[in-house]
Amino acid sequence: MKSPPAGTEPQSRTEELTHRASHVILVLGGYGFFGERICGVLARNERVHLIIGGRDGVRARKAVRALGLPSTQGVAIDASDPALAERLAGLGVRTVIHTAGPFQGQDYAVARAAITAGANYIDLADGRDFVAGIALLDAEARVAGVFVTSGASSLPALSSAVVDRYASRFGKLQSVRHGIASGARAPGIATMRGVFSYCGKPFNRLENGHWGPTHGWQDMICHRFPSPVGRRLLGSCDVPDLILFPARYPDVQTVTFQAGFASPAGHLFVWAASHLVRFHLMHSLLPLVAPLHRISRWLESFVSDKGAMFVSMAGTDTKGQPLDLHWYLIATRNHGPHIPCGASIALARKLANGEQLPSGAMPCMGLLSVDEYLNALDGFDVREVPA
Ligand SMILES: NC(=O)c1ccc[n+]([C@@H]2O[C@H](COP(=O)([O-])OP(=O)(O)OC[C@H]3O[C@@H](n4cnc5c(N)ncnc54)[C@H](OP(=O)(O)O)[C@@H]3O)[C@@H](O)[C@H]2O)c1
Repeated sequence: MKSPPAGTEPQSRTEELTHRASHVILVLGGYGFFGERICGVLARNERVHLIIGGRDGVRARKAVRALGLPSTQGVAIDASDPALAERLAGLGVRTVIHTAGPFQGQDYAVARAAITAGANYIDLADGRDFVAGIALLDAEARVAGVFVTSGASSLPALSSAVVDRYASRFGKLQSVRHGIASGARAPGIATMRGVFSYCGKPFNRLENGHWGPTHGWQDMICHRFPSPVGRRLLGSCDVPDLILFPARYPDVQTVTFQAGFASPAGHLFVWAASHLVRFHLMHSLLPLVAPLHRISRWLESFVSDKGAMFVSMAGTDTKGQPLDLHWYLIATRNHGPHIPCGASIALARKLANGEQLPSGAMPCMGLLSVDEYLNALDGFDVREVPA
């Protein structure tokens, strides 16, 4: 392994040996909403030497200190730094976990820098083109002998793991409809910017065998989740699964994904505002992100702390009989935000344990089982309701 640069040298011989024996993981955006939760778990893994990075070095150092780690493990680092590959190599990084979204509209500079530095790369992207397009880096990643994956999060890592688990019960899997109802805790600004970037805007999805347009946050439904979550309003979202699933499950005629806020009033407000974009009265809802983010933080204590995910699969079984399966994940006590972190934690654990992951670049599907994903959420109030 390369030696660490000035400022990250271990203090003592014991620390030096520990550092060398560990798998060095940089969480880019490690003091952000999801990054902080990923780091909270990885910091307790003795095989991992965790580095927390973001553009603000003070916040990065504060974040590592809060986890009981030396402040040298918090670094100022910018994802758009042209010398990022050299920084990664200098820090001795073996795996980068990239949470510094939004990914919609981002290029693959961070992944390319990781490949150049000989490091594995995992991101939490939820942009459809970004996640599907990561395969463009496949040849480069193979040559470098590193593992590169995009969408290591609820979508498509967990959603595809659920469908994979049940796929053998179908002779023909014709439809996958899935969705997420969030709890009170508002995600970070990057997540909100990603979602609001397509509110009211058209995008294609496959329904009944035809690709046709729907609009972000529209096409509203009221979905009934198992107790204690109950009924929630959901609207259409532009996510990687909409293009990845029709390719992965060749018989599917329908793939939909919808999401909703815990507050019905908040959901209806964004649904109503999305019409301003759809009918060209506003170019984008992005200017609303900062004020709505503040408001949703203020309202957290008045809104349900429960969230849920569903995956509904329909088709015919191996004997040609109709088959409908419904899988749920229920989170209480505001533990829902840990769910998107499960994939990167589980993959990081595998890498730190020395398990072989494929060289190459791929969307995060077929790399984790549902059980491996959920094991990474051990200790949180997240409960599966199997189909
Ligand atoms: N696929 C899924 O199912 C799924 C689910 C949920 C979330 N996500 C994704 O998770 C991502 C993270 O969301 P979040 O809610 O945690 O966002 P967040 O709280 O805004 O965190 C983003 C972090 O990235 C850092 N950052 C931003 N620009 C940077 C840059 N140029 N260089 C280095 N660091 C930078 C930020 O710190 P500074 O600004 O101080 O640098 C911050 O720490 C989102 O983009 C979302 O797409 C995916």
